[in-house]
Amino acid sequence: KSNFHIRTAVLTISDKGSKGERKDLSGPVIKKMMENIGADIVYEEIIADEKEEIKETLIKIADQKVADLILTTGGTGFAKRDITPEATLEVIEKEVPGIPEKIRAETISITPQAALSRARAGIRKQTLIINFPGSPKAVRECLEAAIEIIPHGVKILK
Ligand code: MTE
Repeated sequence: KSNFHIRTAVLTISDKGSKGERKDLSGPVIKKMMENIGADIVYEEIIADEKEEIKETLIKIADQKVADLILTTGGTGFAKRDITPEATLEVIEKEVPGIPEKIRAETISITPQAALSRARAGIRKQTLIINFPGSPKAVRECLEAAIEIIPHGVKILK
């Protein structure tokens, strides 16, 4: 268990989810796993796969110091509307390639399709942003691979 409270924002990026046409199951998976390590969920939202909306939301959370950590789920694949990694790259000041590298390296043996996620991670101001794929199963596998290294990274940013 971490000895400090990571203020965590959970951002679900899904066209269907944002219109209420699909129940968001992935956001709650992130929420539960982060609460299990003592994190505080300070922000939750479901937004559409719209680059400007994604960017604005990430910028708002980081620049207004709403959260130390933003975990996004969805929009990392090959579908035409998938744009989360590009939006993330446009707002981060420093990329952190090792986090998605670790995630893909460790989960590819469970699910070879892990290679199809274009997820990125990086830092804007004092906030760490990490992309996760959209399915609850993928989120569980991928967050499992990253969760042990998150607290140390966030602590250094503070
Ligand atoms: N990574 C893990 N660990 N487990 C998974 O089941 N699903 C993959 C991939 N990454 C998956 C995964 C699949 S099928 C796709 S299409 C991509 O993530 C992108 O998902 P997204 O478009 O929902 O973000």
